[in-house]
Amino acid sequence: MSSNRKKVIIDTDPGIDDAIALCYAMLHPDIEVVALTTVFGNVDVPLATDNAARLCHLTQTAAPISAGAAAPLHIEPNPHAYYVHGDNGFGNVSLPLGEYTATDEDAATSIVRHITARPGEITLVAVGPLTNIALALQLEPRIADQVDSVVVMGGVFNNPGNVTPFAEANAWNDPHAAEVVFNADWPLVVLGLDITHQVSFNREFFDELAVRNALVGGFLHDCAEYYIEFYEQRSQRSGCCPHDQLALTYLTNPQWFQCEPVAIDVVTTGEQIGRTVATAQADSRRLIGKQVDTVKLQDDYLKVLSG
Ligand code: BDR
Ligand code: CA
Repeated sequence: MSSNRKKVIIDTDPGIDDAIALCYAMLHPDIEVVALTTVFGNVDVPLATDNAARLCHLTQTAAPISAGAAAPLHIEPNPHAYYVHGDNGFGNVSLPLGEYTATDEDAATSIVRHITARPGEITLVAVGPLTNIALALQLEPRIADQVDSVVVMGGVFNNPGNVTPFAEANAWNDPHAAEVVFNADWPLVVLGLDITHQVSFNREFFDELAVRNALVGGFLHDCAEYYIEFYEQRSQRSGCCPHDQLALTYLTNPQWFQCEPVAIDVVTTGEQIGRTVATAQADSRRLIGKQVDTVKLQDDYLKVLSG
């Protein structure tokens, strides 16, 4: 095991595209998953936590798992997205729980403890509602200086939302947390629907994945069917959108992304709640993703899962 591996905490609500991203991180030779933290979103937080443990069992990854927020900071919770990810979050494909269980430490405490223990070394990747990240900042504001960087899948800036005409799901599920995280003084990359919708994983892609890795690729192949059917019913897309994977590909291959420095506002009330608005700002450390090399992303995903 190389000590040069990128150390990452992944905050997640698994979820099929979360599973796609987590399996990539867990199998990537250059990524060390230091901790997993879970949040409500696609599913409730007990199921998100169990699903993170199931993926650890599938990939034999011994990362500590901490359960986090069950609800947003200040608004009434929205319904979970079982209609997108199936009743079990994995397209109703069963996966054994195995030997890994959550620790007693809550998500925000875990995030703070790991970042402060290794200043400058840890990248925080957030692919669910941003509640745990906002709580961690509240618990210890100095993590803003001590984290290497923060990569978020969330928001939408120049296109319609996926849960309302204005909002993307992760921002919509906790707009106050998004406001905190997008305005903290730390190096931040936000990959919204504008860029995640550029990528599709179709049935042929998952067939190939299952050939290359019967165990992990086979599981993702089976649970992706539910997610692909959801996309087919609501769009012209052939295949599904692996939103959360873009945050992990950014971690390993940022050179495949074009980004723009911005300031970000979040609408926290009213009809447009969860809307994210970016204004170009040349000297900003906050970037939003504009373009990604989709062919390289797909080829790299297959390669990493092939081992
Ligand atoms: C985001 O919301 C969730 O449904 C997905 O897992 C992803 O993190 C996409 O809007
Ligand atoms: Ca997610």
